[in-house]
Amino acid sequence: MSVDTDFIPATSEDKPEHSSIDVSSKTFWAQTSEKRDETFARLRREDPVSWQRPVQDAVNPDPDDPGYWAVVKHAEIAEVSRDSKSYISGQGVLFDLLPPYFLELSQSFLAMDPPRHDHLRRLISSAFTPKRVKRIEEQIKVAAREIVDSFAHESGEIEFVDRCGKQLPTRMFGDMFGVPDELREQVHKSAGDVVAWADPETLGDRSPDEVQIEACQTLHGIAKELIDARRAKPADDLLSSLVQAEIEGEKLTDFEIGSFFVLLSVAGTDTTKHTSAFTVKAMTEFPDQRDWLREDYDGRIKTAVEEFVRYASPVMTFRRTATLRAVLGGKKIIPGDKVVLFYPSGNYDEDVFDEPTKFDLSRDPNPHVGFGGGGTHFCLGNQLAKSMLRALFSELLTRIPDFEAGEPELLGTNFMRAVKRMPFRFTPEK
Ligand code: HEM
Repeated sequence: MSVDTDFIPATSEDKPEHSSIDVSSKTFWAQTSEKRDETFARLRREDPVSWQRPVQDAVNPDPDDPGYWAVVKHAEIAEVSRDSKSYISGQGVLFDLLPPYFLELSQSFLAMDPPRHDHLRRLISSAFTPKRVKRIEEQIKVAAREIVDSFAHESGEIEFVDRCGKQLPTRMFGDMFGVPDELREQVHKSAGDVVAWADPETLGDRSPDEVQIEACQTLHGIAKELIDARRAKPADDLLSSLVQAEIEGEKLTDFEIGSFFVLLSVAGTDTTKHTSAFTVKAMTEFPDQRDWLREDYDGRIKTAVEEFVRYASPVMTFRRTATLRAVLGGKKIIPGDKVVLFYPSGNYDEDVFDEPTKFDLSRDPNPHVGFGGGGTHFCLGNQLAKSMLRALFSELLTRIPDFEAGEPELLGTNFMRAVKRMPFRFTPEK
């Protein structure tokens, strides 16, 4: 990329017409992901870095917003993700325009830049000592077994998301932060509300603002109680490490830990939940792939789990802001420009993946961008997520291998590819 100036505010200098291939409208996001990918495929062919009009009906619209660059190909998604100097996160990472106070309450170091980002990230990573990771791995296996135990003997039909998909990530998040059992359902519900600002069913007669603020405040309130308890009596858990940690001689404030709690309650639970839902659906549609995996689960799951994430692509968009002049995909980017990364499109890029619409569990290599395109913000929880998916599918495919998923009901959103409910049938275990 070419670079010739420091950060200056956005202008509409040198901008092309907004693309006629639109990915900003509510109608576009209301379509199925298959339909959306037809549009992304056209953009990948004809205009890989396109100038788009502002997102329609943003939560916090900006009348001066000139629009954004839509980045739909794998190569440019990786290029932007890996260059955190030219494309920063500190001015917000969500595609929709959300109020600044919401971002403070919920984004933590996801929406920070080096060096603050790197300090916080190192701190959190250091809490995952090999001993703790090993213990977590064991806990995940036990939890997966108990979760499948809770329905495998039943009549043979459950609602997947509630009874299975959400259980393991909610439980692991609860264990990491020491959330008492009676509060775990509330944490899960509030974490879901944080990202449901565009879903009419979740909103009911409330505004997106009301729903988000209430959800964030509930989560900060729970975090505060837990923080106070850990300050009084430290335990051997992630939260105690955060409470005691110091960055350059300073302790994290309760608010900073609270925002991290909100970030992780969403990043760590919803993503994995939706990946498991889309995977049982994919195994229903591609039974040969399920059979292939079952033939040698332990030998094949390491490769297969990457395809679970590529195929599901539960995180659909994240944004960066340009700080320098650059050329990206042949387009002139100027400081202040918003640059939006469309991960599902990168994951279905024909130049990188053969037959991208095929759920192919033997796909290897599988350089998907489901956890991000690499670089400083690459998903911190990717190992944990894969470990949960491996443990859950080991139980499902051993104990109720003939399961079938029905039609999923999807969340209305341009951020998460998310399943609200999905019927799930199986022959009960004897
Ligand atoms: C299948 C499940 C998951 C998917 C698809 C996923 C996806 C992502 C993506 C796309 C990003 C942004 C990457 C970027 O901006 O370059 C991200 C960041 C992050 N994820 Fe995940 N994630 C998953 C599970 C988890 C879990 C289980 C945790 C934690 C327990 C977690 C914690 C985080 C955190 C803390 C960040 C911010 C990292 C940073 O800014 O440095 N994620 N994830």
